[in-house]
Amino acid sequence: MSSNPNLAELIAEAAEKIKLARHLVAFTGAGISVESGIPSFRGEDGLWSRYNPKTLEIDYFIQHPEICWPVVKEIFYTHFNKALPNAAHRFLARLEDVGMLKATITQNIDSLHQQAGNRIVHCFHGNSARLTCLKCGNYYPASNDILAQVIPHCTHCGGLLKPDFIFFGEAIPDDAYRASFDAARQCDVMLVIGTTGEVYPAALIPQEAKANGAFIIEINPLQSHFSHQTTLLQLPMKAGEAAQALAARLKLKID
Ligand code: APR
Repeated sequence: MSSNPNLAELIAEAAEKIKLARHLVAFTGAGISVESGIPSFRGEDGLWSRYNPKTLEIDYFIQHPEICWPVVKEIFYTHFNKALPNAAHRFLARLEDVGMLKATITQNIDSLHQQAGNRIVHCFHGNSARLTCLKCGNYYPASNDILAQVIPHCTHCGGLLKPDFIFFGEAIPDDAYRASFDAARQCDVMLVIGTTGEVYPAALIPQEAKANGAFIIEINPLQSHFSHQTTLLQLPMKAGEAAQALAARLKLKID
């Protein structure tokens, strides 16, 4: 438990809000997966300080797949395949198991929420688990033999394959967009975990929840774009640590 009395009070208040929530929803970003070994995009040692985000611009990817595919594999498949859910993912899965959490909206494409056991997960930026053909729309699992191709191509039409998550310049998947904003409007408490709130339209989701009267609890060791205008209670903690503290208060086992 925290040695800082103020932090202990914040944790107690957050736990009480979660316990009394009528319709709890979580909104997560890259920060929730940092303790699983997946670097965040921004901030110290973030992916965008090591790789050029241009490789994730859709037009550049289509023009230069030979440059982009090796980077995409290194960032999203080499790293991601070793990652396991951490206490924060397990906490959200437990909250859903006991009927407290109604949905998880994630900007992440790493499938760690699903691996932890969450069933209602809206993947706002798509997901890296499958590839899609840019020509005929066929889907393929992101399997080792397909990723072994230097530049994966569709066996059906020969088209270029890309991971089924959105690149810069691509639209948000319709179903995920609708489901995410519906969940934001229905919730009375939203947990906003591990996100800078820099990227739109995802960043509108906590704002939509707030505009509909939700109490916004943020878990982030640093300030974000939400901290001063959307968040009502911030736990300045790492997601895994906050999850352990909240689970203890709520008497939920997340071993
Ligand atoms: N626990 C909680 N939060 C953390 C932790 C941690 N252990 N470590 C870092 N953070 C916070 C950082 O303080 C930061 O606010 O997580 C956030 C990570 O921010 P970003 O890297 O910008 O990730 P995110 O907000 O999810 O980015 C949104 O940008 O590049 C696109 O599509 C990509 O989905 C991504 C989107």
